[in-house]
Order: sequence, then C-alpha cells, then structure tokens
Amino acid sequence: MIAPVTEQTLVLIKPDGVQRLLVGRILVRYEERGLKLVGLKLVQVDRELAERHYAVHRDKPFFAGLVEFIISGPLVALALEGPNAISVVRAMNGATRPWEAAPGTIRADFALEVAENIVHASDGPGTAAAELALWFRPAELVAYPRDIDRWIVAAAE
Ligand code: RTP
Ligand code: MG
Repeated sequence: MIAPVTEQTLVLIKPDGVQRLLVGRILVRYEERGLKLVGLKLVQVDRELAERHYAVHRDKPFFAGLVEFIISGPLVALALEGPNAISVVRAMNGATRPWEAAPGTIRADFALEVAENIVHASDGPGTAAAELALWFRPAELVAYPRDIDRWIVAAAE
C-alpha cells in the first residue's frame, strides 16, 4: 500500500459564501469527506492581510478587485488535515472558473463567476505552510485525536 501523506491546508470560505449563508453547507462537505478540522475562525480581513495573502497575484489585472472583494465582508478561515488534504480539497473546490468546474464540486454547485467563486484553498505544500502561518497563530491550530480516524485513515504499515 502507498502510505498517504498527511497534509494540512488552508481553506477560506470567501465573503460571498458567508453572505449567501453557505458556510454550513460547505463545511459539512469537508467534514463528511473525512477531513479533520484543526482550525476555524470568522475573520474581517484588513487590506494588509488580503494583500499578503494574494501577493502572488500582485501584478495581475484582477488584483485590486480581488483585494476589495476579500475585505468586503467577513470570511471563514479553516485549517483542514488529512491524507493528501491539499489536492483533495482543491479537487472538491473545483476549477477556478466555476463554468469549467466539474459537476459536484463546490464551485460548480454554488458559483457562476470567477471573481466570486466561494472558496480558496492552498495549491501546494509550500503555499499551505505559508498560508496557515499567515492566517493562524500556532496555538489556533489544534492537535487532537479522533476516534473516527480508524475508519478513515489507514494505519501506516
Ligand atoms: P484560490 O487561490 O482562491 O483557491 O483560487 P485558485 O487557486 O483556483 O485561483 P488563483 O489563480 O489563485 O486566483 C485567485 C483568485 O483570484 C480570482 N481570479 N479572478 N478575473 C479573473 O480573471 C480572475 N482570475 C482569478 C478568483 O477569485 C481566484 O479564486
Ligand atoms: Mg490560488
């Protein structure tokens, strides 16, 4: 058996998800998949944090609008943990452009426009580590056992 890599990833349920009352419905998808919630908070983001989070897009034409959108209302930040969590969550979120997202993904089910595509997720181990450190203090990431994991996560051989 190939031992899966346990990863942590950052998810943001963006202001459109909060305003549209979709937080619970999105959270339940990650929970039902078996991902472990290790961090969770509602945040009214300031411009500095928004610009740091999206620094990689600083030179893109959509950067200013992206920052305005992400600070336009509270969002929910999640830290999720599980086997291959980074790619699992990206797949659950779906393609960046919701009209290209596979049916059954969050963006396909809840979004139509690229600017308001409901969720963000880290796109690799490096960005996951950097984004988790940006959004959560170490004490806000909680390590705890879950009995259910014996049904979800195979024991490493
Ligand atoms: P995210 O970072 O939010 O998980 O999304 P992603 O990796 O799938 O997409 P990324 O390329 O990182 O873009 C970040 C966010 O910028 C907005 N965007 N707008 N107007 C546009 O052409 C455009 N392109 C990207 C989207 O909200 C995207 O999620
Ligand atoms: Mg991205």
